[in-house]
Amino acid sequence: MRGASLQPKPAAMNQQTSENPQHARATPQKGRERLILTPPVGWLGTDNEPDEMALIKRLNPKTVMMMGDNPALPPMPDKPTLRDFVELRFGPVTRRHLTVSAKRALDEGQSETVVMACLLHDISNGALIRCDHGYWSAQLVSPYVSEEVAWAVQHHQALRYFPDPDAGYAYPASYDMFFGPDFVPPEYLRRDAEAAKAHQWYKTARAVTLFDTYFFDDFAEVDWADLAGVVERNFRQPAEGLGFDGSPSAHMWRTMIWPNNFL
Ligand SMILES: [Fe+2]
Ligand SMILES: [Fe+2]
Repeated sequence: MRGASLQPKPAAMNQQTSENPQHARATPQKGRERLILTPPVGWLGTDNEPDEMALIKRLNPKTVMMMGDNPALPPMPDKPTLRDFVELRFGPVTRRHLTVSAKRALDEGQSETVVMACLLHDISNGALIRCDHGYWSAQLVSPYVSEEVAWAVQHHQALRYFPDPDAGYAYPASYDMFFGPDFVPPEYLRRDAEAAKAHQWYKTARAVTLFDTYFFDDFAEVDWADLAGVVERNFRQPAEGLGFDGSPSAHMWRTMIWPNNFL
């Protein structure tokens, strides 16, 4: 049985599962060296551009391009839940950021809609993609949550850049540090924030920005048990497992299960 707190699982456990023929997704690549080509969105514009042709030239009967479970990652269950992704795939910063945001909203008596939106607001930063994370996060979760939760997740991104003194929200000091004090949000965020302010669910998305605290803030580790009831009532966990239910975002969850698949 899993512990209550959100601790990352050791990758070494994967050796059993990925090579276990009883495992539903056991990799067929046992005994061969698995080659990984990192996805373009992770290296474009950086010094980490891989030499794709050199990698392909390394293919021989003893090597394959990575497909299926990567032994370097913790194994995912056959029918993964939201909690499994949080524990087994998300980096520690996002894991902590999301659970602390949700717990603070819960402790301050916010609605379960707000708590759920806080828990999911940066979910794409956990193991998928950072750019336009509010939009990606909303797309990931929209088949499984209320329309209002998905809307708030999407619009928190734009609203973060625009103060609302009446709501007690100021432009984040951390953004000055992240982007420089002269940073100007792009037009599409300005447009989406303006539209959000006139929307019936504006307060929900604004609440997400109010509980959007960063990892360097001094908050205690959150027990999943404190959030489990809200998740159970507000996240429609598919019986087949996230990634395998044929939803419009199932491929995005599978990408987090197998982030290193060649194709
Ligand atoms: Fe965010
Ligand atoms: Fe956030």
